[in-house]
Amino acid sequence: MKPNLVIGNWKMNGDQQTNEVLLRNVLASQTNEGHLEVAICPPFPYLASVAAHLQDTNVVLGAQNLSPATHGAFTGEVSASMLRDIGCRYVLVGHSERRALFGETNEVVAQKFAAAIEQGLIPVLCVGETLDERRAGITNSVVTTQMTAVIKHAGIEKLTRGVIAYEPVWAIGTGETASPEQAQAVHQHIRGVIGSFNKQAAIDLQILYGGSVKADNAKALFSQPDIDGGLIGGASLDAASFIAICNAARINPRGTA
Ligand code: 13P
Repeated sequence: MKPNLVIGNWKMNGDQQTNEVLLRNVLASQTNEGHLEVAICPPFPYLASVAAHLQDTNVVLGAQNLSPATHGAFTGEVSASMLRDIGCRYVLVGHSERRALFGETNEVVAQKFAAAIEQGLIPVLCVGETLDERRAGITNSVVTTQMTAVIKHAGIEKLTRGVIAYEPVWAIGTGETASPEQAQAVHQHIRGVIGSFNKQAAIDLQILYGGSVKADNAKALFSQPDIDGGLIGGASLDAASFIAICNAARINPRGTA
């Protein structure tokens, strides 16, 4: 069984000075206790300096985005091999902000996912419904469609080499969190979709919850049987909050000893 996983997504926040203070505080609190891996995804310009801070610690590096292309004339883009080169282990793919604000379609997301796998990165596929979609009762089918695009492009085996993050769009940055039961229901659905292809891969898959995870709601979310950690936005910018969220995830994954 893989450990739980907590990823801090700094989004477009921070500068050299605030990053340094935040990292120093977060790293001072890291222990090897519990079944947990912690990753931090800073903005591109800070990947190298954060990588240097993380060296010889048990916190790993991730990126927030990548190009589907391998190299060449793509001004402003960053490739999977560059992310590997700088020391990334994870890369977020298809975050709802990229889908909504930068026009990323399911097909582009699938290409990015495959590009990440190709270079040995672990893509974190973000899926989730809008409020209108939830109200229309189509949450599960939206999430299935988002996963199916990757399965069609890259195949089920590659999808299971990644991580899936369920982030209901209506819960991101709003202070409104999916209840543990609402989140669990979608996580169970996601695991079920994978399980219809490969039962063992479904058991092994890490499925994270994201959307206004805070110190005071993390434990209830992470205690759900199909929630294997969190993808944390705002609260990852505050050392005390992020540390508390990490500690809430230092529990045995899905009831294993
Ligand atoms: P918040 O934790 O700020 O709601 O953001 C969640 C998110 O989008 C993480 O990727």
